[in-house]
Amino acid sequence: SRDFRIGVLAGDGVGPEVTREAVRVLETIAKGFGHSFTFTEGLLGGCAIEAKGTPLPAETWELCESSDALLVGSVGGEQWDSLPADMNPGLGGLLRLRRKLDLYANLRPGLTLLPGESPIRGADVDILLVREATAGLYFSPERDRVVKDGVESAWDTMHYTADEVRRIAVVAFELASARSRRLTSVDKANVLEASKLWRDVVIEVARDFPDVELEHLYVDNCAMQLVLRPNDFDVIVTENLFGDILSDEIAGIIGSLGLLPSASLRSDKFGLYEPVHGAAPDIAGRDLANPAAAILSAAMLLRHSAELEDEAECIERAVSAVLAGGIRTADVARGGPAVGTVGFGDAVVAELEGIIASIA
Ligand code: NAD
Ligand code: IPM
Ligand code: MN
Repeated sequence: SRDFRIGVLAGDGVGPEVTREAVRVLETIAKGFGHSFTFTEGLLGGCAIEAKGTPLPAETWELCESSDALLVGSVGGEQWDSLPADMNPGLGGLLRLRRKLDLYANLRPGLTLLPGESPIRGADVDILLVREATAGLYFSPERDRVVKDGVESAWDTMHYTADEVRRIAVVAFELASARSRRLTSVDKANVLEASKLWRDVVIEVARDFPDVELEHLYVDNCAMQLVLRPNDFDVIVTENLFGDILSDEIAGIIGSLGLLPSASLRSDKFGLYEPVHGAAPDIAGRDLANPAAAILSAAMLLRHSAELEDEAECIERAVSAVLAGGIRTADVARGGPAVGTVGFGDAVVAELEGIIASIA
């Protein structure tokens, strides 16, 4: 049994809807295995702007610092997205949080959960995308938008130190060592200085992992290869923006953004866990969102921050079984009958209770 403090930042749009189901699933685990999880809610993103005038209020920061792990929904919305950097839900909220907490290793596992149903024929994938998440183009030391001599211009800079590349490369090689020992490093080293450094450092780190087979791909080619031969990929490591784009592509290969979880980690046990998808304003508030990504993120929380591997696997088994049994939200129902967000959560909780009863 374990006492574990979880900060819950449900955010905007579908965030609160999917996070609620993930919390219910964690409560089912706590009850079934005799753990004690404490959930404390905080405001992040647009909802925090409305209530506190800032996307990352001091109270939220204090909650993050006093939690063992964070469960996050999604942030953003049209009414806030064009606010200046420090005031917008993405950059001023979520990204600032990742950076302040130094959560540089963003793991985004893409696993086929609906065999035979990918829009890419024959795709059956188990890809682990490792996205660098606290530097690169997202965190330009220089970024601005100005009008000078009547000319309007704006710029961002992709910046990496060798150490920033090294630490994410080490994480990726270690993960690859523990899996199928294949690593693809993705860059744009034919053009970008930051990518040339990236590639040099990855090659240097590779010397410490002689058993891992390393491949380098330019990001444009990688985007195509993922569609042409998705099953060949195992671990992929890449820059912040490239990773953002490729993770949505992997979601497309798997069938829905609603299926892709993520973990943002650093060297200790603390982590932030969130679905890869956004606030999905087009479906928010209508019980339509797929909570699988959020629920699977809760499983990652148990695995990486709470060291509860068996419990994490129970959740993953429950989600797979529910999907395989044909209980689907609209995004993956392929025109067939669909359940809502809550209905899917109900099914996962029921399946999980069955799994727990069977191993008790
Ligand atoms: P999005 O990920 O919110 O939605 C993209 C598409 O996927 C939409 O059609 C949406 O309906 C669908 N989708 C997303 N999640 C789903 C789910 N759980 N179930 C079923 N369908 C789902 O991306 P967007 O539309 O580009 O952005 C919308 C807002 O979300 C913006 O404000 C953006 O800044 C923000 N955003 C936040 C995050 C985050 O918090 N991590 C990520 C991406 C976008
Ligand atoms: C993601 C999201 C975020 C990102 C946005 C909301 C800032 O798209 O987690 O993939 O770009 O990192
Ligand atoms: Mn994204």
